[in-house]
Amino acid sequence: MNVALALEGNDWWRRAVFYQLYPRSFQDSNADGIGDLQGIIDRLDHLRGRDDSLGVDAVWLSPTFPSPMKDFGYDVSDYLGVHPDFGDMATMDRLIAECHRRGIRILLDWVPNHTSDQHPWFLDSRSSRSNPHRDWYIWRDARPDGSLPNNWRAVFGGPAWTRDEATGQYYLHSFLEEQPDLNWRNPAVVDAMHDTLRFWLRRGIDGFRIDVMGMIVKHPDLADNPLNPHWSPGSAEPKFLWSSNRNYPDVYEAVRGIRAVLDEFPGSMAVGEVFGTPDEIARYYGSRSGLDGLHLAFNFQFIHEHGHVFTAWDAESMRRIVPNAEAAIPPGALPCWAFGNHDRSRFISRHDHDGRGHERARAAAVLLLMLRGVPFIYYGEEIGMADVGIPDSRLQDPARFHTPGRDPERTPMQWNGSPSRGFSAVEPWLPYGPADVNVAARQADPASILALYRRAIRLRREFRSLEQGSLRVLPSHPDVFAFERSLAGEPSATVLINTATGVRRASLHSPGRVLLTSRAAGAAGQTGQDFEIGPLESMVIIHG
Ligand code: GLC
Repeated sequence: MNVALALEGNDWWRRAVFYQLYPRSFQDSNADGIGDLQGIIDRLDHLRGRDDSLGVDAVWLSPTFPSPMKDFGYDVSDYLGVHPDFGDMATMDRLIAECHRRGIRILLDWVPNHTSDQHPWFLDSRSSRSNPHRDWYIWRDARPDGSLPNNWRAVFGGPAWTRDEATGQYYLHSFLEEQPDLNWRNPAVVDAMHDTLRFWLRRGIDGFRIDVMGMIVKHPDLADNPLNPHWSPGSAEPKFLWSSNRNYPDVYEAVRGIRAVLDEFPGSMAVGEVFGTPDEIARYYGSRSGLDGLHLAFNFQFIHEHGHVFTAWDAESMRRIVPNAEAAIPPGALPCWAFGNHDRSRFISRHDHDGRGHERARAAAVLLLMLRGVPFIYYGEEIGMADVGIPDSRLQDPARFHTPGRDPERTPMQWNGSPSRGFSAVEPWLPYGPADVNVAARQADPASILALYRRAIRLRREFRSLEQGSLRVLPSHPDVFAFERSLAGEPSATVLINTATGVRRASLHSPGRVLLTSRAAGAAGQTGQDFEIGPLESMVIIHG
């Protein structure tokens, strides 16, 4: 067994390839149809530690805390525990140890904006207006005319306020009504939440993905959000902007506070789920005085832009998105890329209008892993999983803020082609996808998307210019996105992404050798200065 060494140094995350894992859907070890922590332990070899492992450096687990599961764990009722569906603390400790033994860092999903309405803090808070926890959440009277305290909308639709009959006031919830927002302007809340971070960092957790980072601190007077000038009746645009409750300037101060806690544990890190303009996102990395914010902030532009799902696979979009992301972040910071996650339709399904989603997914693997910055792979992407159609009777996600909810991208990982896909001994919580999309079949096929992911990850590690070099967009045919990765003293690389369904030509400034191509039948090993790139092909060429 070839146990690769873990990345060294406190800045390990700058060189890491991350993998997002949805614990409910990775592996069921106790025959209840729901994935669990023991299941993850049983499947770690897939991720790292063997020659045929994917080779990722870190995992992020979607929430594992006790929760009524109204929003599948994003409604936390105890930040210091493990949901019994997933296991117990002892199993979590073993998972941490098993990850570390293989050189895998592990991140939990920290949900600071809101708790579950079943969290003891909220039960207390709603019990009376004078309860010491009252001010841990955001309570307001109706306006004098009896209307809601302000015009804020919940992200999942409907007003962001629910009236509590017993105490006669409204509480704020930016998501479901079972997810009341914490009051981050109350120092007691800040302290208690910081302590939840310390609790896990002491247990060996390496960091956190931070849920809806940008909403935790709101306008101090909860001012109405202004009308969106781009809205008109019937348009897809939201009617109101989010300026009072998203990326409100005070949020950046709270971010620095969170960073200070992480700095107590050298080598720990955080990646924020953030939305907004490139400028707003850049500020999450720190203030003008330095990188004192989050280590990383997701760039979602290959998933959705301005609220619209990203379905274009064209060089022109890439020539816009990549340089914008690079230009927007402060010096010394790294972009953070994901092409899919548990909230949006899977990559293949978004790019399959002509039945060629799988080829684009292969090309995307190369792009994701060759861009400068930190890549996040969403579980199943490495075997080419697509959205799974869910019959109405089996829908689970209560938050249908986009149809048909988020179940299609959360279905069980497919380990083999058997009726159970190797996932569970009983009917799984969500149905399986087509049997031929599975790890065992992909492992057996040296031309599979899984083999491609594995090679791309190894190439990135092998060539420091790909892992750490700068990125420069190169002039190219309009259908080809071309960029160079270079690092002083190291061979440079050219990456070519042909987004057309026809063959295109590219001429390079110097001869090179094709080390990786996304096409199963592509010509790796080819050398030269003029290249023909096949339909929807991506390639990596090393110079010198
Ligand atoms: C984030 C999560 C999403 C969740 C929401 C509320 O957007 O990714 O799954 O529903 O926050 O916590």
